[in-house]
Amino acid sequence: MDFTTLRFLELKENIVFLGTSGVGKTHLATSIGIAAAKKRTSTYFIKCHDLILNLKRAKLENRLENRLKHYAKYKLLIIDEIGYLPIDEDEAKLFFQLIDLRYEKKSTILTTNASFKSWGEIFQDPKLANAILDRILHHATVVNIIGDSYRLKDHLDKEK
Ligand SMILES: Nc1ncnc2c1ncn2[C@@H]1O[C@H](COP(=O)(O)OP(=O)(O)O)[C@@H](O)[C@H]1O
Ligand SMILES: [Mg+2]
Repeated sequence: MDFTTLRFLELKENIVFLGTSGVGKTHLATSIGIAAAKKRTSTYFIKCHDLILNLKRAKLENRLENRLKHYAKYKLLIIDEIGYLPIDEDEAKLFFQLIDLRYEKKSTILTTNASFKSWGEIFQDPKLANAILDRILHHATVVNIIGDSYRLKDHLDKEK
């Protein structure tokens, strides 16, 4: 509820929703995004994998700077699902550039199923992962969601 006051946007703070699959990370991130959009805050939602593919394509087409500026301009950027798919070193560098552009200027909401310790493996470069995490977490609230998957709940209830 506090996040929907959008105070974190004024403070240029980030939010990280951390938890296993189905606990409601995307649900919460989207709800905050809707609250922001309703107040006419420029808001953009993208899955991490799609973001990286788009940045890679832009780089190949010599328009990386434009694309980075595009993603950097939103007052609120939601990057969903960090950690499900591997990210190679070149991709990690692109991701770092965007996070660095937004650092202390714009708010980003990230969702991840992976503990911060394992980000070194996800980004296949511990130093780069550390630089990314450093910038994300400097001004951030981390919400660690522990619980059963909403997706499996009904099925598990039936088994009881
Ligand atoms: N608080 C909630 N109450 C009821 N349903 C919820 C709640 N949070 C999430 N859900 C539903 O559970 C499912 C999984 O949530 P989702 O946000 O996609 O999980 P995650 O992103 O953590 O994998 C979705 O259908 C979502 O709408
Ligand atoms: Mg999700």
